[in-house]
Amino acid sequence: MGLLNKIFKKAKTDAVFETTSPNGRLVITFVLSRGEMFYSVAKDGKPVVHNSRLGLNLRDSASLDRGMSVVRAFTKQKDETWEAYWGEEHFIRDNYTETVIYLEEVIKPARLLTLRFRAYDDGVAFRYEVPAQPLMSKMVITDELTEFAFNSNDRSWSINAYQPDRYEYCYLEKPVFELRDSVHTPLTIQTTAGFFVAVHEACLYNYGGMNVKMNNRALQADITPLSDGTRAHVSLPFNTPWRMLIVADSAIELTTSRLMLNLNPAPREDFSWVKPIKFLGIWWAMFVGEWTWAPSDRHGATTEHAKEYIDYCERLGIPGLLIEGWNDAWEGDWLQNGVNNKFMDPTPDFDMDEVCRYAREKGVEIVGHHETVGFIDNYERQIDDAYKYMLEHGVKYIKSGYAGSHMMINDKREYHHSQLGVMHYQYALELAASYGIMLDVHEPIKSTGIERTWPNLLTREGARGQEYEGGALSPSHTCFLPYTRLLAGGMDYTSGLFDVCNPTKRVATTITRQIAYYVTIYSGMQMAADRPRFYEENFPDLFEFIRNVPVSWEKTLPLMGEIGKYYVVARQAWNRSDWYIGGVTDENGRRIVLSFDFLEEGANYKAKLYRDSDDAHYRDNQLGHVVEEIVVRKGDRLEIYMAPGGGFALEVRKM
Ligand code: NOJ
Ligand code: CA
Repeated sequence: MGLLNKIFKKAKTDAVFETTSPNGRLVITFVLSRGEMFYSVAKDGKPVVHNSRLGLNLRDSASLDRGMSVVRAFTKQKDETWEAYWGEEHFIRDNYTETVIYLEEVIKPARLLTLRFRAYDDGVAFRYEVPAQPLMSKMVITDELTEFAFNSNDRSWSINAYQPDRYEYCYLEKPVFELRDSVHTPLTIQTTAGFFVAVHEACLYNYGGMNVKMNNRALQADITPLSDGTRAHVSLPFNTPWRMLIVADSAIELTTSRLMLNLNPAPREDFSWVKPIKFLGIWWAMFVGEWTWAPSDRHGATTEHAKEYIDYCERLGIPGLLIEGWNDAWEGDWLQNGVNNKFMDPTPDFDMDEVCRYAREKGVEIVGHHETVGFIDNYERQIDDAYKYMLEHGVKYIKSGYAGSHMMINDKREYHHSQLGVMHYQYALELAASYGIMLDVHEPIKSTGIERTWPNLLTREGARGQEYEGGALSPSHTCFLPYTRLLAGGMDYTSGLFDVCNPTKRVATTITRQIAYYVTIYSGMQMAADRPRFYEENFPDLFEFIRNVPVSWEKTLPLMGEIGKYYVVARQAWNRSDWYIGGVTDENGRRIVLSFDFLEEGANYKAKLYRDSDDAHYRDNQLGHVVEEIVVRKGDRLEIYMAPGGGFALEVRKM
């Protein structure tokens, strides 16, 4: 490890350490003041986070927050570029300055604590590391004292924590001082000095998820409690997750940060077997009441329907098919009865062997489905066999679900985002990795970037998705997501609903916006969520975009937008020269001017634009759309209209 910075010969209870980002603009300062620990963050010399407290409260011994002295400290620098297996960016630069500060209590028992600070150009991060030590081998953490002291009237966007539908809420704008109820991270803040900040965490293992809420003077970490009221039970050595802050000059710049992934370690094994995928589903037909999850004369997951959908996959060029409602889990009140869900027992009208044989013959991947309803005890008793059962049938993708307001773990009600919830998701993920299974987790634990280390976690839901269409979604929702939830990575939004005028589930978008989502909402598994007859028969012109759009990206260039109002992003296909650009707007129509500065000099590109018609509207003319072809070159500009609740998608291929 690099440079020895300072060595202190005797106990030092007052000290200041600054860690400065490689470009010199961001500084995170650690202050030890009479043995108490604080940090602050500044950009261009202007405060972003004021002096904020650090420390841990413990159940079985005094809190680790005072009486500290600096024993020694190191700084080091890193500048490396790593290659992802899939994602929004193929090559990611990891460039930071790090300061490690070793602390020891001045008086007995002289416990040890290490603080690690990092400053990147796009944000800062720090974590607590409690080493193995003679007088402490375990800790029960009752509170994390970490503060984030913003100005009380800085603007913020967030969703509340501890809600029955977990992360599935619409974003609310509030001044920071109004965050008296805990909110989930990422929490997005616009500071009075004009910076855009996202408070989040990275590398969440074996600990409760961090929420934040106002204490008397500042936002404070609120680690999701266990049913015993404590926050985490851990053995030493133990590192908390990274507490991270993306700090950007604009809202759109926030979305370019790769800080969260950089704070997670590279995988220990080879994951080149992982493949992002697009898939159809025996799914939306249940939401619109055409079919049912449970066996009935309208049962969705029958052998016949599955084969019909496999044929659609083949004809439409969509490589995967999700089948929900295939197992013994859906009879009666499925949310209550989930305690008995069986993960190896197909319904009588679903011949798993035959469906999977047919899928193999047609070269279609089945995406299996495990709805646990949060009954973890029941699921963990079966999960090993249930994964093997899928593999025996050639199924390598699984969508899992954790519906319900709580989990049942060790016969107790626990929060999904508690330490025990986090540990379950991790167990399921690592077991899946050992079997070569890829996951799409619904009702997940939020992403903290662990998919860098576990790339078989291809996507998650973890926000309000299109299952809420039909009344509970407005066009602004997907204009908030890029600046909030999606800062934490991919989301299975279940895009591609073409039956937008359906009277049972009316979709609050234009039809064009549904294809824009494949670019504006990144996901390592992208669903084409509607019934395939709407793709093949009704709108083959728009479906062409879904067939062509990649699921993984060489580069991502967010172009313009404002939180909750609009968002436009260009992405280059993984290992290819073609580009896909998507835009979405809120309830207001909007004209934007796209500059093709990102194209290669001297080349001609054929561009296919899918846009709202001039009279389209998400309320009364959802289907109005235009598809047109043009030729573009680097430096060209193109004016594009997005209707109220609409959007556009553009495919740009080198000629
Ligand atoms: C909620 C999931 O988000 C949805 O996709 C799934 O169909 C239902 N649970 C049933 O498992
Ligand atoms: Ca859900």
